[in-house]
Amino acid sequence: MDTDVLVLGSGSAGLFFALTVAEQTRSRILLITKKERSESNTNYAQGGIAAVESESDSPEAHLRDTLIAGAGLCHEDAVRVLVSEGPARVNDLIRLGARFTRTKSGKLDLGREGGHSTNRIVHARDYTGRELERALLEAVHNHPRITILENHFAVELLTDHQRVGARTSLLRKGPIRCYGAYVLDERTGKVKIVRARDAVMVATGGAGQAYLHTTNPSIATGDGIAMAYRAGARIGNMEFIQFHPTSLYTPEAHSFLISEAVRGAGGILLNQNGERFMEHYDPERKELAPRDIVARAIDAELKRLGSDYVYLDVSHLKPKAIKEEFPSIYTRCKELGLDITTDPIPVVPAAHYTCGGIVSGLDGTTNIDRLYTSGEASMTGVHGANRLASNSLLESLVFSHRAALHLTQRLEKEKNQKEQPRLKEWDESGTENAEEWVYISHDRREIQQLMWDYIGIVRSNHRLERAYRRIRLIRNEIEEYYRRTKVTVPLLELRNIAEVALLIVRSAMRRKESRGLHFTTDYPKTDNRRWHHDTILSK
Ligand code: FAD
Ligand code: SIN
Repeated sequence: MDTDVLVLGSGSAGLFFALTVAEQTRSRILLITKKERSESNTNYAQGGIAAVESESDSPEAHLRDTLIAGAGLCHEDAVRVLVSEGPARVNDLIRLGARFTRTKSGKLDLGREGGHSTNRIVHARDYTGRELERALLEAVHNHPRITILENHFAVELLTDHQRVGARTSLLRKGPIRCYGAYVLDERTGKVKIVRARDAVMVATGGAGQAYLHTTNPSIATGDGIAMAYRAGARIGNMEFIQFHPTSLYTPEAHSFLISEAVRGAGGILLNQNGERFMEHYDPERKELAPRDIVARAIDAELKRLGSDYVYLDVSHLKPKAIKEEFPSIYTRCKELGLDITTDPIPVVPAAHYTCGGIVSGLDGTTNIDRLYTSGEASMTGVHGANRLASNSLLESLVFSHRAALHLTQRLEKEKNQKEQPRLKEWDESGTENAEEWVYISHDRREIQQLMWDYIGIVRSNHRLERAYRRIRLIRNEIEEYYRRTKVTVPLLELRNIAEVALLIVRSAMRRKESRGLHFTTDYPKTDNRRWHHDTILSK
């Protein structure tokens, strides 16, 4: 298969990149996605998109809030780009047909979330992500030069390492280059080469599935981050995994999110004794403190009282307003037998967002030539040690747009230089059938449990070392199994989860301080203004 631009992933980052490239160039774009096209973290986003839209707000205020949440580790240049270009990208969405909630006077209705000093969240009730996917997918569908392939799983990136005669090309000066990807067609079980003449965009999202309890859907297995790492990309700040404070507690799983916007609308947190506790942890901001603070406060209350969950209570708010503002949350809880207009909602923290990822410049470029990245798979420097609520959809739009413009300019310069190297076919030597399903599901569960128990909200050197030894062993076993069996989606996802889990643990081991989302009992909390550094890993 052959295309000009290959996009991996059909969330906000991949779709918006594809649309912008299609608008700016004559390129043919192939977008592949591992399940049906709308299945992505994007599709489940509730709260909204943070952007400066009101006259009483300013980019400086948005910048300040982002830097405070990021605990001294944000790259200020990246945040400036985010806050200044964000409103234009929201306008692009509206131009593409996204329908956001408006006030009676027709202005955008701006919600409030933790860490924001003002109302700044553009949203479509509590189903912003679904609306975004709808609008972007419709625009992509109507574009003649974008093709989407569903149920196609990117296995590995193709770089100089897979060139026929790789040795000579690797001796060439300059960065290695990306030429496409090996892709598994899930229907036929065959792996094929997809060549991209001009660029590959990795927009495969985050890695919430590395944890036992996560708000992320099953696609979030960190595939792009693992693939890029194996190909030689630099991976940054993987220790900063954000735990959302309030996912619905049910005995089996904690995967349904109760949006932070619920606290923004006045929801309060109560412990099992019915006491409001956030005032003891952050007296000024209380329930609207940044997420790391609220999640740690809940964790401390759970441990202090030996309980399994705390409550989020909105029963003091007007029932009509709750039903209108949070229709999805109201309905889902009702299905589970809970009327949130009268009953407090049992909630616990769950893994939610991967702040680190493939290190990217301000224009989506990576250290691999022709390889771009955007969205949750990337590390632009915007989030630092903790992401400010609703900054991630914005980040995906702003940096996908910039990556598309970078590519456009590059193509103008490189008009007649289309190198077409010979690439090695997929190695079919793994012939055994992956019959040992029990190994795959067991290993996946074991990694998730280890990550949940040892690399969660509160960490320690001892826990990190235990997790490292065990996960490295599992990773090596999986790698060996992968080499001798036919590839399947569960096996490939497991392989990537193991790789990403190890990246998280190794990054956490390198950070000898408590900062933002990385909180360890062995090092005191660092003054956020102190000299700081990113954690970078590469092969
Ligand atoms: P995704 O939307 O996750 O898309 C990744 C795509 O890549 C998917 O299509 C997936 O199938 C595909 N893919 C993955 N691996 C492969 C592979 N190997 N081969 C082919 N395709 C692959 N952020 C906000 O800013 N505001 C919010 O209100 C908000 N609410 C959230 C609520 C929930 C429940 C969750 C889980 C997240 C929320 N977030 C929110 C975070 C935000 O949704 C994500 O960070 C953002 O949508 C990421 O977009 P993305 O395009 O990078 O990745
Ligand atoms: C939420 O609605 O609470 C999620 C917002 C986010 O993750 O940014």
